[in-house]
Amino acid sequence: MSINLDGKVVLVTGTSRGIGQELVRQFARSGAKVAFCARRPEPLRALEAELAREGREVMGVVADVTQPEEVAGLVGKTLERHGRIDVLINNVGIAGPTKAIEDTELSEWNDTLAGNLTSSFLCLRAVVPVMKKHGGGSVVNIGSITGKRPLTYRVGYAAAKMGVIGLTRTAAEELGPQNIRVNCICPGAVDGERLEEIMAGQASQRGITVEEVKQAFQGFSPLRALVQAEDVAHLALFLASDLSRHMTGQDVNVTAGIVMY
Ligand SMILES: NC(=O)c1ccc[n+]([C@@H]2O[C@H](COP(=O)([O-])OP(=O)(O)OC[C@H]3O[C@@H](n4cnc5c(N)ncnc54)[C@H](OP(=O)(O)O)[C@@H]3O)[C@@H](O)[C@H]2O)c1
Repeated sequence: MSINLDGKVVLVTGTSRGIGQELVRQFARSGAKVAFCARRPEPLRALEAELAREGREVMGVVADVTQPEEVAGLVGKTLERHGRIDVLINNVGIAGPTKAIEDTELSEWNDTLAGNLTSSFLCLRAVVPVMKKHGGGSVVNIGSITGKRPLTYRVGYAAAKMGVIGLTRTAAEELGPQNIRVNCICPGAVDGERLEEIMAGQASQRGITVEEVKQAFQGFSPLRALVQAEDVAHLALFLASDLSRHMTGQDVNVTAGIVMY
């Protein structure tokens, strides 16, 4: 996959594991200067070191993007280093509880919305003035198949991810005249640590084995496949680049065909 983003400044959130790490790798290898964040410092330092060995220009910043002042610090550090932000990838998301509705605490609901929706709003709000000042940009929000297709026992997550689609559409409408595009990627079940945790939660709630949950997830796909993090990163590269210059307000699925709408 060779999309060239030479010299572009990209900010990726939620990068201490999973899809976020792959996003950083792929954007850095496309020639972009990449700033990225998570709450835990050690994985950020390790990713920085890995990519520095390849000669990439990357910077990891410890920040909790549910906190407005930490988002301001993250954007400030990125601007100090690079002077602009061309691409924002709102990747942070938390699974939230796997629980029946009546067992879900208000605090769990609020935390799930903060981690999946408010975090994207706060980063968007902080980056929009920067993009306007520099003549435009591209924002990619990472939503989920669960914003479109229900997943029992994940009510807060499903509501938050549907919210991400609403945020995407209205931001696209509002910011289009300033040449800022806003799109959303809806991944399906992505192979990795997070999915293992989710499958364990589903198995325990449903009284079945993790292997049975995995078979069910794969069985929904016409391709009988799980998605890989790199599949999501490839689409993000496309949406960040001028190859998609007339796409905005879209929610694009990478679900191995599980949802088609
Ligand atoms: N995996 C899937 O099957 C799947 C499917 C559909 C959609 N998605 C979406 O894709 C995105 C990435 O998922 P993933 O599977 O890679 O998740 P993951 O493995 O759980 O990674 C999430 C990352 O976000 C960071 N993070 C969480 N809360 C944060 C906060 N408040 N501030 C800063 N960083 C924070 C975590 O690091 P720290 O703990 O160090 O902060 C971690 O690096 C999420 O939006 C998720 O909802 C995933």
